[in-house]
Amino acid sequence: MNLSQLNSDYWSQLCGSRIAHRLGITAADPSAVETFDKWFFSFYPYVADETFIPWSSLESSRVLEIGLGYGTTTRRLDKKAKEVVACDIALAPVVFSRSTTQRVAGAQASVCNLPFRSNSFDVVISLGCLHHTGDLRGSIRECFRVVRPGGTVVMMVYNRYSYKKFIVSPITTIRSFWHELRGNPWHRAGETVKVRVAHFWDRNTEGSAPPHTEFASRRGLTRDLASATSVRTSLTNVDDITVLFPLRLQRRGFEVFRRRLLNSFLAHKLGLDIYCVAVKASN
Ligand SMILES: C[S@@+](CC[C@H](N)C(=O)[O-])C[C@H]1O[C@@H](n2cnc3c(N)ncnc32)[C@H](O)[C@@H]1O
Repeated sequence: MNLSQLNSDYWSQLCGSRIAHRLGITAADPSAVETFDKWFFSFYPYVADETFIPWSSLESSRVLEIGLGYGTTTRRLDKKAKEVVACDIALAPVVFSRSTTQRVAGAQASVCNLPFRSNSFDVVISLGCLHHTGDLRGSIRECFRVVRPGGTVVMMVYNRYSYKKFIVSPITTIRSFWHELRGNPWHRAGETVKVRVAHFWDRNTEGSAPPHTEFASRRGLTRDLASATSVRTSLTNVDDITVLFPLRLQRRGFEVFRRRLLNSFLAHKLGLDIYCVAVKASN
């Protein structure tokens, strides 16, 4: 089976299902979806506010979102943007996103080969998706192909040099760091990790990891996007250590503790995720 088929099968269980189970969500009724979205935006406050996604200036924008999962970002886009196209390699996230929004158009397609004309969107958003495709750099090029000159691409990919990567896969990470220092930030084409390592980042409800996970560095991204008008990369995100504690304790301030961590050196210098906001050069 090729990687696209494996990805399509694996992600037909909505990404976020483990959390949904923890939150006690079993149905897709509006109040359950609202509970999930509330959790999502409080866990990723920098997605909810304007740190990376320019929510308040989307009213005249045609937006493409790629890699939908439970669809929290899609539902917010539905309320804020002029037009939204929601694209995913698996059918289930496309169907779920469409059924929980009013005006969103869906497309089942791979970001490696998008079925859209060049320069046809004002904004392209892809959070947590491109590193699963098997062609991280090619999928970034596709995002830039479909966004118009002067338009913005917002993406989140996994950080090759996060604290977790150093702990879980120290030798590979140090070796990559060495190559990066010698001027080769895409050493081993984005650095893929084995599935047994990948499950520290993503797992479905059966405990299996996605078929493919790779990691990028800020320097590698910035170098690949040298032709963009502006590129801003930032590190953020730390693990949810609250799962280690009983629910009763979690309610008593552990959320506050994680919020503090999100403002710490750990998140800003060794965080799990790279957010990249880049503007395509005008012709
Ligand atoms: C980890 S989830 C992220 C979902 C959501 N953006 C979020 O932040 O929770 C990754 C998503 O990317 C999708 N995906 C994986 N490979 C893809 C590809 N080649 N093209 C388009 N979507 C893909 C998966 O189906 C899944 O919905």
